[in-house]
Amino acid sequence: MPASAIRLGVNVDHVATVRNARGGRHPDPVKAAEIAIAAGADGITAHLREDRRHIVDDDVARLKDNILKPLNLEMAATAEMVAIACKLKPHAACIVPERRQERTTEGGLDAAGQRETLRAAVSELAAAGIRVSLFIAAEPAQIEAAAAIGAPVIEIHTGTWCDALASGEQASATAEFERIVRGAVLAQSAGLEVHAGHGLDFATAEKIASLEPVVELNIGHFLMGEAIFAGLAPAVRLMRAAMDRGRNRIGTSA
Ligand code: PXP
Repeated sequence: MPASAIRLGVNVDHVATVRNARGGRHPDPVKAAEIAIAAGADGITAHLREDRRHIVDDDVARLKDNILKPLNLEMAATAEMVAIACKLKPHAACIVPERRQERTTEGGLDAAGQRETLRAAVSELAAAGIRVSLFIAAEPAQIEAAAAIGAPVIEIHTGTWCDALASGEQASATAEFERIVRGAVLAQSAGLEVHAGHGLDFATAEKIASLEPVVELNIGHFLMGEAIFAGLAPAVRLMRAAMDRGRNRIGTSA
């Protein structure tokens, strides 16, 4: 049986970062989203931060109204953000930590330490018809907490692995990748849908795409950086091709 497809979610936050450097409306994250979708993105992700440092409320409203693929809203589990999401009704919401005390040592959400707050946010979002994911490290305690909280999806934080690779710490990178593999399998066996993201580039996205339990990658910073050199559509097409190469390795010995 062929492996299931893997979706690419393109995060457009840093289009808004560039726009906000000058104020005004250019470059527009909605236009970036449309270009990314035309080039093969399966969805668009935007993080409405509490301080609105890049994406602002008007951006998420326009993304929701204009794009032809699912919108994934990244958000903190605060009353303000839950109310915004329930009104906006994006296809999905990914709960992320914004404050130091909400994080685990690996930088993902401390789902195990914040069960009650997260359970309330997840159930309110789910009642509004939103598919909720928790952005966590590939730690058994966090994965078990996500399942117990009732989130249908987790997004595994790949940043520690990508940072270790980038700084040439091969042994740490290998250990972290193995932890991601074990975490993805554990999450799948707990009935969770598994996404991954943070810090991914062409090579790391290709490798993560070769993990059968992982069905979606969310990628922003690297793609926007490549877009400066090559254009957004070519960057998205190359990313899609890298992910497909990884996916096609499932079940082979490569
Ligand atoms: N997934 C989540 C939950 C994130 O918070 C981010 C960063 O906004 C990403 C994926 C994308 O990370 P990057 O911009 O490093 O590709």
